[in-house]
Amino acid sequence: MQDNAAAILAENDRGTYTVPTKGLYPFQWNWDSCLTALGQQQLDEARAWLEIDTLLAHQWPDGMVPHIIFHVEDDGYFPGSNVWGTNRPTPTSGITQPPVCAFVLRRLYERASDKAQAREMALRLAPKAAAWHRWFYRCRDPHGTGLVALLHPWESGRDNSLDWVEPLMRVPDEGVTPYVRRDTTHVDPSQRPTKAEYDRYLWLVEHFRDLGWNNEILHDNSPFRVVDPGFNAILIRSDEDLAWLAGELGLADLAAEATARVVKARAALETLWSEEDRQYLCFDRALGAPVKSASVGGLLPLFAGAGDAGRQSALAGTLRKWRGQTRFGVASHDPADPRFEAKRYWRGPAWLIVNYLLVDGLKRCGLDDAAEEVRRDSLGLIQQSGFAEYYDPLTGEALGGGRFTWTAAMVLEFLRGERA
Ligand code: GLC
Repeated sequence: MQDNAAAILAENDRGTYTVPTKGLYPFQWNWDSCLTALGQQQLDEARAWLEIDTLLAHQWPDGMVPHIIFHVEDDGYFPGSNVWGTNRPTPTSGITQPPVCAFVLRRLYERASDKAQAREMALRLAPKAAAWHRWFYRCRDPHGTGLVALLHPWESGRDNSLDWVEPLMRVPDEGVTPYVRRDTTHVDPSQRPTKAEYDRYLWLVEHFRDLGWNNEILHDNSPFRVVDPGFNAILIRSDEDLAWLAGELGLADLAAEATARVVKARAALETLWSEEDRQYLCFDRALGAPVKSASVGGLLPLFAGAGDAGRQSALAGTLRKWRGQTRFGVASHDPADPRFEAKRYWRGPAWLIVNYLLVDGLKRCGLDDAAEEVRRDSLGLIQQSGFAEYYDPLTGEALGGGRFTWTAAMVLEFLRGERA
């Protein structure tokens, strides 16, 4: 299993960055790269630092780190760089993705065997991660609530989640430049988003492009503004890890600033708790109401150690209930929800990266047994079906793209956990 994982990382390595998988995703993706670096470190430490160095070299002047870097043109993917029209030296998309970067930087630093290299790279990269985090609260929380909003479903990383169905209704679906999708040529269309959804995704892209990708005004001018508990939890955790790293590096101001953000955001995150659902829920900021949708995004606050012991064990209870209804955890959506679809991406399937973040979170909350169950399910999926993009949680069937980079990286991480 380990050799297979290493072979996949090598296969998708483009020298200075790694593609998620051949064909379907031929560029560098933000959170894919960061999580991939964790696996790479076990094989080649310098290569792992380089992966993140490349990503952050394409940070925007305002601090945003884009979700895709189009290093080389490839017309197998839509929407390509010409649709985004972001006018960057190397083309990028104009939106961001879950900020796992600082969490990964801390892990790389702590585990490094070449300490001099680790210090040099961390000193170079931590200030960039800090600028990104500042950008989040300035541009995605301009009214100072303590929680950042997503302006596009693709920013969540859980692109096709049921969480976005209602909020997307406020986005017009007319007037979009005619286009041809490419995702459905690589993957069975029944697993992918519908045309009505795709029209709205593109409406948002064109709208932001018309506003000149000016992040100082996009938030208040977007009909899609959703606060995702999972995304915010990742940001909080990364800020916490950034504070730790800055402390190690002697960057006291940076550490203090990150800690202040964490304190405020932690308190704000609790406003997303739903006692009825026994988990956190998204909040539709454009509407001013919670989104009644029980997705795995609402369990991810474990990753930030959010809530008190009562809420954490409630989350573990919800997770147990979900696992009880599937053969392999963790479903990306509540299996009891009538809208659950075991094969449509992010509306049911299990993802190893989500499992990884949950395992880490469960452990930090002292829920070791639950963590071990999720880790076992993850390796069980690989054993049965190989290294896919995601899996049917009822049958374990491999779905989406194959020979998938971050799945391979997570396997290396889970196996590492086994040895430890
Ligand atoms: C899909 C996923 C997203 C990921 C990308 C590349 O769009 O939803 O989270 O970053 O694929 O793997």
